[in-house]
Amino acid sequence: MKRKHVYSSLFFAASKMLCFLRIFTCYCKGFEAVKKLPTPCYLIDEQKLHKNMEKLAAIKNQSGAKMLLALKCFAAWGVFDLMKPYMDGTTSSSYFEARLGYETFGKETHAYSVAYSSNDIKKVAGFSDKIIFNSLSQLGQFYPECRNVTCGIRINPGVSYSQFDLADPARTFSRLGVTAIKDIEAAVPMVSGAMIHFNCENEDVAAFERMLDGISCKYGTFLEQFDWISLGGGISYTEDHFDSRRFAQIINSFSQKFGLQVYLEPGEAAVAHTTSLMTTVLDIVENNKRIAVVDASIEAHMLDLLIYREPATFKGTVSQGGFPYQIAGRSCLAADIFGEGNFKNELEIGDTIMIEDAAGYTMVKKNWFNGLQMPSVALMRTDGQIDVLQASSYTDYKESLSTLLRI
Ligand SMILES: Cc1ncc(COP(=O)(O)O)c(C=O)c1O
Repeated sequence: MKRKHVYSSLFFAASKMLCFLRIFTCYCKGFEAVKKLPTPCYLIDEQKLHKNMEKLAAIKNQSGAKMLLALKCFAAWGVFDLMKPYMDGTTSSSYFEARLGYETFGKETHAYSVAYSSNDIKKVAGFSDKIIFNSLSQLGQFYPECRNVTCGIRINPGVSYSQFDLADPARTFSRLGVTAIKDIEAAVPMVSGAMIHFNCENEDVAAFERMLDGISCKYGTFLEQFDWISLGGGISYTEDHFDSRRFAQIINSFSQKFGLQVYLEPGEAAVAHTTSLMTTVLDIVENNKRIAVVDASIEAHMLDLLIYREPATFKGTVSQGGFPYQIAGRSCLAADIFGEGNFKNELEIGDTIMIEDAAGYTMVKKNWFNGLQMPSVALMRTDGQIDVLQASSYTDYKESLSTLLRI
C-alpha cells in the first residue's frame, strides 16, 4: 500500500516536472522567436488573451448576460478565432466596424452610431441583428428602412462612473443618447430594447449596483416593456480584484426582475494586459536625465496614453533603484514621451523595450504621423510560435494619403 503511494507520488512529481519543462520549452522557444521579430511590433500573448476570455465567459455563464466585443477598443481580427468561443458577437460605432464584426467575428452583430447617414443605414440594415439609434430623430428618420431589423434606442441616464471628462457619457451637454422621458416614450413603439452605456474603467461593483438601481427606478416602466438591454462597456471585469461573482448576481437579478436579455459590451477588459508594444532603443541622449529614444512614438502608436495623460509601464523595471530613464518616441513632437522607468540594467542602443498594455484603444488608433514605420501586429501562440498578423510598408503609408484615382 505504502509502495503504491510512493509510486503515485513519484508519478505525480514526474508529470508536474514534464508540464513545467513543456512550459519552460515553450517560453524559451517564444523568447527566441520574439527576439527575431522586427520592431516596432504589437505583440499579443495568446495565453493572456485566453485568461481574459475565461474570466468573461465565467461572468457570462453566471449572469446569463451576452458578451459583445466592442470593436472601437480592439479590432485586430486576426485573433478573433481565439475570442469567438467565449463571446457572443460584436458591437460597433460605425458602418465599417459593424461590417468588420459581421465578416470576421460573426455570431451576433450590433450596430450603433452616434449619427448614421442614409447610406450607412442601407448597408448596416443588410447584415446587423440589432441597430441602436442615438437619438429619437435618427430613429424616426430611418425606422421605415429598418423594419426587418431589431431596433433599439440609446438612453442617457444622466449618471456615470468615469474619471475622465473626455470619456464621460453623462458630461454636461452630452449628445450621447436620449435624455427626455417623453422621447423614450415616443421611441417605445419602434424599439424592443435599449443601450445604456454609463461606465468607464469601473472596478467598483458597489458603485455599479447603486447606479443600476437608480436606472431601474427611473426607467422601470420602459424596462418592463423591453426584451433586451445593453449595459455598454467600461467595466474592469478582468482586473484581479474585480468582484465578478457579485457583479454576475446583480446582472442576473436585474435581468430576472424586468424579463430582459442583458448584453454587456466589454472592450478594454477583453484585452487588458495581453499585449506589449515591442520597441528598440535607437539612441540614448542626456538632458539632466537619461533619455532612451525608441523606434516608436506615443503620438502615433499609443495615442490614448497621450490623450488621457497616463504614463506607460515598461517590462523589466523596478519601483525603486535601478537605472532611471525617460523612454521617448522618435516623432518630432517635443513631448513624445512614453514615461519613466527604473531599469534593472543600464540601457544600450539596440536593447528591446516592451511597453505594456498596448491592445485596448491602441492598435485602432495608430496613425502615420511623421511617416514613422507602423508597428506590425504579431501573436505569440501558447506553444511559443509567432504568427505575424499584419505588417505595413511604405506603400501603405503612401496610399493612406493619396491614390491616383480620377473622380
Ligand atoms: C457604447 C459603448 N460600448 C462599449 C464601450 C467599450 O468600453 P470599454 O472598452 O471601456 O469596455 C464603449 C466605450 O466607450 C462605449 O461607448
